[in-house]
Amino acid sequence: MNRAAVVAGVGSCLPARAVPNDELARRLDTSDAWIRSRTGIAQRYVAAPGTATSDLAVGAGAEALKCSGLSAVDAVIVATTTPDRPCPATAPVVAARLGMTGTAAYDVSAVCTGFVYGLATGAGLIMAEVADRVLVIGAETFSTLLDPDDRSTTVIFGDGAGAVVLRAGSRADAGALGPFDLGSDGEGEALITVPAGGSRQRLSGQPPRADEQYFSMSGKEVFRHAVRRMTGSAKAVLDRAGWSAGDVDHLVSHQANSRITQHVAEGLGLPARRCFSNIAEVGNTAAASIPLALDQAHTRGVLRPGQRVLLTAFGGGLTWGSTVLTWPRLDRP
Ligand code: COA
Repeated sequence: MNRAAVVAGVGSCLPARAVPNDELARRLDTSDAWIRSRTGIAQRYVAAPGTATSDLAVGAGAEALKCSGLSAVDAVIVATTTPDRPCPATAPVVAARLGMTGTAAYDVSAVCTGFVYGLATGAGLIMAEVADRVLVIGAETFSTLLDPDDRSTTVIFGDGAGAVVLRAGSRADAGALGPFDLGSDGEGEALITVPAGGSRQRLSGQPPRADEQYFSMSGKEVFRHAVRRMTGSAKAVLDRAGWSAGDVDHLVSHQANSRITQHVAEGLGLPARRCFSNIAEVGNTAAASIPLALDQAHTRGVLRPGQRVLLTAFGGGLTWGSTVLTWPRLDRP
């Protein structure tokens, strides 16, 4: 089969307010030096009260549509850990606000791997001829999950959104996605979790305790899993694509921690100059991380037409996933 899902547009959206490390160090027992040296993060963006995930998703989706020259698509997929509400999904309201009532729209939940899962799902719709054009958005207001007093998570995560438009094309087209590698290990469920608020640990009407209500992460263990899984998944997808590490012009990995990216690059045999990084500016934006990085790398002229790009992500679940593409010629704002 020659049909393929081809990247036709990218876009992103960040909240207005950047929060530098020093601002957090004024109220938490941490420092700019610790955060920079242990994570590579200098600042993150935080959405103002009243700004929801769908607001950022609409901003990124509108930019990606404009970049693609399309005004409508056949399906809208929103990858998010922080939907506007537990019910319904966020994608339908995003589609409606982008002028697309009547369009298929649903959320994908795979925490920081959500965008790669969303891309695979969107590509699947195109390959199965269910859709010819799909908008895949990764969007988060992750700050809403964080305990403001927990220095181990508050310094890492940020808010934002990124989006990609996919169109039906052929495998030889620049921008054709795939192959994919996706995986999960639910035995690691407790390593990255918001314990309460779902059906397992119900909110009973009593105010929940901070350790139940907020996001928690076993940092050291997650670090090790992230390096192992992203390296393994990236190798698997390179193998399936028939590419060697030497063929990769840019690794655009989930921006979890600059030291994680460094270890993954070393494991793949990629020099640091071929790893795109924007974590210093935006922190870890979970499902928004890869599309936000793709849009910034494209806009800044780092990703150029014809270059070979490797995407890899790891997140709660545990989940992981990777894919490859040759960067297409796209409009720049
Ligand atoms: N400021 C200052 N000190 C901090 C701190 C902060 N923000 N957060 C933790 N510390 C302290 C710890 O309390 C610990 O102190 P101790 O030695 O007195 O007990 C010390 O720093 C080392 O903590 P540790 O957790 O071992 O640090 P680390 O080097 O592993 O870095 C993370 C912590 C969270 C940055 C790192 O583990 C990480 O990035 N993990 C993966 C995160 C991730 O990618 N999550 C998303 C996956 S998609």
